Amino acid sequence: MKSSRIPGFYKMSVEERVRIVREFASLTDEEEKLLLSFSQLPADVADRMIENVITTMPLPLGIATNFIVNGREVLIPMAIEETSVVAAASNAARMARPEGFKARAMEPVMIGQIQVLGAMENAAEKLMERKEEILELANAQDKVLVSLGGGAKDIEVRKADGMLILHLLVDVRDAMGANAVNTMVEAIAPLVEKITGGKVHLKILSNLAVHRLAEAEVVYKKEVIGEENVDKVIRAYEFAAVDIYRAATHNKGIMNGIDALAIATGNDWRAIEAGAHSYAALNGYSPLTKWWKDEDGNLHGKIKMPMAVGIIGGATKVHPVAKLSLKILGVKTAKELAEIMVSLGLAQNFAALYALATKGIQAGHMKLHAQNIAVMAGAKGEEIDTVAKRMVEEGKVRMDRAQEILEEIRRKNKKV
Ligand code: MEV
Repeated sequence: MKSSRIPGFYKMSVEERVRIVREFASLTDEEEKLLLSFSQLPADVADRMIENVITTMPLPLGIATNFIVNGREVLIPMAIEETSVVAAASNAARMARPEGFKARAMEPVMIGQIQVLGAMENAAEKLMERKEEILELANAQDKVLVSLGGGAKDIEVRKADGMLILHLLVDVRDAMGANAVNTMVEAIAPLVEKITGGKVHLKILSNLAVHRLAEAEVVYKKEVIGEENVDKVIRAYEFAAVDIYRAATHNKGIMNGIDALAIATGNDWRAIEAGAHSYAALNGYSPLTKWWKDEDGNLHGKIKMPMAVGIIGGATKVHPVAKLSLKILGVKTAKELAEIMVSLGLAQNFAALYALATKGIQAGHMKLHAQNIAVMAGAKGEEIDTVAKRMVEEGKVRMDRAQEILEEIRRKNKKV
């Protein structure tokens, strides 16, 4: 059985890593070549994606190892510019093995909003009375979505500050859904005006996708993380629970993972960010995760947040790397991707809290930074760790010191 537990993955060459990922995800020769080419977005594709294109802006894409989500071994592609994030996620996933993460995503229902101005007194009731007619008109816009079991399912009506707000709830299946929803709300606007006697102003999707939440849970055994660290992580979580300044950073750490996976799969990470923070603010800005000690004294964690991600439409099926990322993940539905997204967010949060509550965040950063410097100084294989470790111990993480240590090791090895 294939495993995402790949010891020493970080020490391998890029070619070796690609070979392992290729085997794991049954990639083709061409896909392997594409990964190794480091220039995957052709000018004509880029030029069709946005306007006024002059070049591309590449980001490193790394693989988070060790993840098990709902019993399945997964390698997670992460596109991000920040050091330590991929390593932190991989470590957190390793400590959660062999149980891993249990995750669940709700049906992919998005909200389309219609703002009605000057509606008559009983407009809300009238809209509810003619719900079926509204849904039918919305569904006439997307026969394919309806044939797949999706489509407009319900409406909600609210009054706020003299305006009427209609929500059209649309099951968008495996899409992020903005296009399907926006087409539907535009199409039903004239009917809504007729029913309400008012004037429809805005018609647009809401990123606060409260009907499309995903959640994940994990247990860190006290024997694995150290009994005293269970309480330390909980105290760290409590800081975010009582203080908005800390909650912002706590949630930022969660989004480090989620955004990286969103970017790797061509998903709209601004939409996910907007959903995450507005959801966190629903009852006063709060952390998106919770950590507590269970009856066995182990650390139990949970995340719950909107997760509007798709595996069809947008860049997911246009960008060659996004397509490959989905293949590496082996996901067949948007729900499955959402489950991995939140598991990664929870892992990332644990990694940050654990580091902050124990050694502090700089130690890990310095370790990786030192490894980078060692590689730049010419260290290979085992030498990388040895040089990096010595520099960290000495508190001298510098190129000149890396070169000195490297020469010293090589001299000694020659003598032996
Ligand atoms: C840094 O990108 C993310 C952290 O600040 C998150 C946190 O403090 O929880 C480490």
